Amino acid sequence: MSIPGTFKALFAEELDREVQVSVKELPASALPEGDVMIKVHYSSLNYKDALSAAGRNRVTKNYPHIPGIDASGIVLEDTSGAYQSGQKVIVTGYDLGTNTFGGFGGLVRVPKEWVVSLPESLSLKEAMIFGTAGFTAMYGIERLKRELITPGSGQVLVTGATGGVGSLAVYFLSKMGYEIVASTRKEASDFLKGLGASKIISSDELMNVSGAPLLSRKWSGTIETVGGKLLDSVLRQTQSKGAVACCGNILGMNLNTNVLPFILRGISLLGIDSAFCERTMREHIWQQMAYVGTEDLPREFYKLVTLEELTDEIDLILNGNQMGRVIVQHSFL
Ligand SMILES: NC(=O)c1ccc[n+]([C@@H]2O[C@H](COP(=O)([O-])OP(=O)(O)OC[C@H]3O[C@@H](n4cnc5c(N)ncnc54)[C@H](OP(=O)(O)O)[C@@H]3O)[C@@H](O)[C@H]2O)c1
Repeated sequence: MSIPGTFKALFAEELDREVQVSVKELPASALPEGDVMIKVHYSSLNYKDALSAAGRNRVTKNYPHIPGIDASGIVLEDTSGAYQSGQKVIVTGYDLGTNTFGGFGGLVRVPKEWVVSLPESLSLKEAMIFGTAGFTAMYGIERLKRELITPGSGQVLVTGATGGVGSLAVYFLSKMGYEIVASTRKEASDFLKGLGASKIISSDELMNVSGAPLLSRKWSGTIETVGGKLLDSVLRQTQSKGAVACCGNILGMNLNTNVLPFILRGISLLGIDSAFCERTMREHIWQQMAYVGTEDLPREFYKLVTLEELTDEIDLILNGNQMGRVIVQHSFL
């Protein structure tokens, strides 16, 4: 397949000591060294992309930059020989879109180790409906399952439930037969019940608890996406031998808690690091997501946007007002 001389991208530059984004045409020669050149058909918007595009939290150290931690597309060339030209592939995590030009560009070039073949039953678009958000949700669920949290163990909690990771966690867990309580700050009962939640609670209610070191036992397992005080509350409400998969830090990086849930109830706190998940687990998670599929997701679950429409969506996710997923379709399609 021929390699285009230029590609369109959402380009983030430091101007007047602020990071600003605009859509630009760039030469293919601007891409970093790497084995696999991919024509990106779809990407998706994650919270980390918004931080990178806004120059926050030092997610991206050097600008100019192209954000986009997710990409699905077609291999144009692989100098390592691992992938064939024309093959459909996915790249999520590693350094893509953080400090390596990412999926908000129509071309990426990455090391072969970052690339995963698209599972047969998924389209390139469906892979991005899941993207890093789905990958993280499923990774958390896999970790809970390894702690023997099964549908028979009791209610499972999902926090930040209308966000990307949270909403897909609700969907996956419900398809696996779990009883899900979804915690949110929004009025989003219809949305969350449509994904399979059986009960909705407000995150204020979850957080607004006494400072007691142990609270009444509620959750067998949790996919916790918000962090901070919410994570502390969840740990103190977790049933004996329960587990909490922790992936987010929206409420900050510090966790102030106590050891009693660990030493008196034997609970586990499971760290989720999807960016550097090892290959065997990575492929397993993609297969699990492909098995669940997107067929039962409500149509309004995702928005399809162009690069030009992406800045408004970035503002929404930064302000915690996004629901479900935003899929980026590159304009040559
Ligand atoms: N460790 C990993 O591998 C990994 C991978 C992916 C994402 N993450 C992290 O996981 C988190 C979620 O990512 P995402 O892409 O799902 O983000 P997202 O789509 O923005 O979802 C986050 C959700 O958190 C809730 N929220 C936002 N601001 C809040 C606040 N001030 N107080 C309480 N709740 C708030 C909102 O849900 P409600 O309005 O429904 O409450 C929001 O929709 C982020 O911190 C992200 O960096 C980590």
